[in-house]
Amino acid sequence: ARFDTVIHGGTLVTAAETFKGDLGIRDGRIAAIAERIEGGERRIDAGGRLVMPGGIEAHCHIAQESSSGVMSADDYYTGSVSAAFGGNSCFVPFAAQHRGQSIDAVLATYDGRAAPHSVLDYSYHLIVSDPTQTVLHEELPRAFARGITSFKVFMTYDLMNVGDAGLLDILTVAKAHGALTMVHAENNDMVKWMNARLSGAGATEPKYHAVSRPELAEEEAIHRAVCLARLVDAPLFVVHVSTRGGAEIVSREKARGTRLFAETCPQYLAFTRADLDRPGMEGAKYICSPPLRDEATQEALWAHVAGNVFDSVSSDHAPYRFDAGGKFLNGADAPYPKIANGMPGIAARLPYLFSEGVAAGRITLQQFAALSSGNAARIFGLTSKGSLMPGFDADIAIWDPEARRTVRLEDQHDAMDYTPFEGMELTGVPVTVLNRGASVVHEGRLEAVRGQGRFVARAPSGQGPARGYRAPEFEAAARYGVEIAP
Ligand code: URP
Ligand code: ZN
Ligand code: ZN
Ligand code: ZN
Repeated sequence: ARFDTVIHGGTLVTAAETFKGDLGIRDGRIAAIAERIEGGERRIDAGGRLVMPGGIEAHCHIAQESSSGVMSADDYYTGSVSAAFGGNSCFVPFAAQHRGQSIDAVLATYDGRAAPHSVLDYSYHLIVSDPTQTVLHEELPRAFARGITSFKVFMTYDLMNVGDAGLLDILTVAKAHGALTMVHAENNDMVKWMNARLSGAGATEPKYHAVSRPELAEEEAIHRAVCLARLVDAPLFVVHVSTRGGAEIVSREKARGTRLFAETCPQYLAFTRADLDRPGMEGAKYICSPPLRDEATQEALWAHVAGNVFDSVSSDHAPYRFDAGGKFLNGADAPYPKIANGMPGIAARLPYLFSEGVAAGRITLQQFAALSSGNAARIFGLTSKGSLMPGFDADIAIWDPEARRTVRLEDQHDAMDYTPFEGMELTGVPVTVLNRGASVVHEGRLEAVRGQGRFVARAPSGQGPARGYRAPEFEAAARYGVEIAP
């Protein structure tokens, strides 16, 4: 057999096992896995290092305006390059609808932002902030038909949140088409009530950001979102779970068979609200929503990562520079509610998870493969990705599991002027990334051509075994001769 590329002398990590072997690539796909493969126009010497499925970053904000109109620092070039240096071969940023915008126009805008620039394969999750009848019944089905099979909604932020009825409408449409609804779950009124009290007390420094968004705001909203999803028996993905209580709801609901998926993020494992209380405005670097919590929460979240309660660990890369074009769009000493929300970390996600997860003995290599890639591929309908199996895309990351590196801004290769992970000493470095067999990063050097990534049309999302559940009230209505079931 002819191979374009052969990766030899590596230790292969699949979902089920870890073994020494070679991997042959033909026409962008994995063509063979065997103890020894000869030939290949290009031979890559893995040198005993780990050959793993390339990471899939399923939560990141790239070339996206926040609700307050700030553009993220990373575009599809710097964002994808940074992702690749972090061991990813594919990413799924958001395409955000702001109120009044048509979904068709939003997607055309993001196609223009992504296609000419991305060095990695990509798709979008659509953010829906304005679920009009046209959006629900014409535009979302059109987006779904072109392979955008996940719709994200916010339960917080005045300019984005769709309300419970809007969430029910979107869940219903998503379910009808085989799409997955993703949710940012925080109780908006609880946060606003806290904001008003803090502002009345003159408490405006960055550290109050974490005070203003209580753990209970997340727990309540996760529980509410799950109830709304259960009412219409639609699958749900809860993004960036940051609390023990939230993780426990997810765990309980999964155990009872709810089609529920969830992620947490490195920042909730690595930092605490104490990081918001750094001198001057330094704490603004750690402002993200939901906010950082405490050490006990870190331990609980790690336990749920290790216990497979979380399906993925995603970066929620939301890059706003430490300047007037980013964090401080409202001035250098703005009160915390007027500082841009978000932390960067698309390049640090997997090195952090490898070091503190695998190297520290909290998770296995198989769990790492699942949390970094395999589960996102399965959940979000990236059916040709996320696995080292013949027939799958040759999306591969080669890791040196023993190399130690201190995190530095210049190694992130993003457009940011800080990394919250600066100075952290991590074990395990991704050295080479292939996307459909093409070199993106090789031995730490960028080899990609701008625009070489392709849009991936995704299969239906969130399609675990359906429960066929019908809320008893829909049954009652049917008995009365009224059909209101979704
Ligand atoms: O603070 C964050 N995470 N900013 C990005 C927007 C969001 O809420 O996901
Ligand atoms: Zn452009
Ligand atoms: Zn969010
Ligand atoms: Zn986010």
